[in-house]
Amino acid sequence: LGDYDNLVVEKRGAVGLITLNRPKALNALSDALTAEMTDALEEFESDEEVGAVVITGNEKAFAAGADIKEMQPKSFSDVYLADFITSTWEAPSKGRKPVIAAVAGYALGGGAELAMMCDFIIAADSAKFGQPEISIGILPGAGGTQRLTRSVGKSKAMEMVLTGRMIDAEEAERMGLVARVVPASDLLNEALLAAEKIAAFSRPAVLMAKEAVNSAFETPLADGLRYERRLFHAAFATEGQKEGMAAFLEKRPAKYTNR
Ligand code: CAA
Repeated sequence: LGDYDNLVVEKRGAVGLITLNRPKALNALSDALTAEMTDALEEFESDEEVGAVVITGNEKAFAAGADIKEMQPKSFSDVYLADFITSTWEAPSKGRKPVIAAVAGYALGGGAELAMMCDFIIAADSAKFGQPEISIGILPGAGGTQRLTRSVGKSKAMEMVLTGRMIDAEEAERMGLVARVVPASDLLNEALLAAEKIAAFSRPAVLMAKEAVNSAFETPLADGLRYERRLFHAAFATEGQKEGMAAFLEKRPAKYTNR
């Protein structure tokens, strides 16, 4: 796959795996790293073989945030004109294929925000989440005040954003921030298994399901329900619906064509 300096990008069968790889800086999200991540996600998005993506870091850090060394000298005009954060960072929330964040160690600031841009988070028991931006004179800028609040509610989000307190995996699971917690040694395996499972389902159904859940965050309930109904009806135009239901009735595994 493409040549990357700050990532390791691999295909594991039908799963695209992106490993953030700046271990010396705890995977701080430099401009170069986020640009590469956008490229890697686009590569997987257009690769028909890939049905789901996993983004992970290393044992010590998923990512310790935006790169503070790079940010420190930037002016308002620098960040405003570059549309800093949104222009390079939001790829995980833009794609249509499901993206799972597999988080061990620190997921702080932009690291937590990156994890929250993914469709769901599987956390190692070693994971630590936090929005410490307040302690360096700024505030979250990659969706932390919005996605965290929608995910865990006002009180928890306010406390984390205003005090910078880090939470552990158990608290994150209790809050509903992460889908589940697994032993650190099983993290990658569990995330890949979940991604493989998703990739093996009917592709149109998977993309529609993701789109429908996301509409819950973007529309009033009545519109969201109508949107879901339209997609649900559309699913009956796919080969996957015929095959999935026939396989159930014939008591055999389904063989999807991604059509
Ligand atoms: N940016 C740049 N470099 C970072 C970094 C970051 N966000 N986080 C860690 N590093 C670097 C350190 O500078 C250090 O480099 P050197 O060895 O060259 O000194 C190396 O990674 C190891 O870090 P520490 O020595 O600090 O490791 P530790 O185990 O003592 O502490 C930590 C770990 C608590 C995560 C600590 O590194 C830390 O607090 N990091 C910063 C976390 C943070 O504030 N993140 C928010 C950034 S702002 C943001 O993300 C904006 C946004 O919303 C998009």
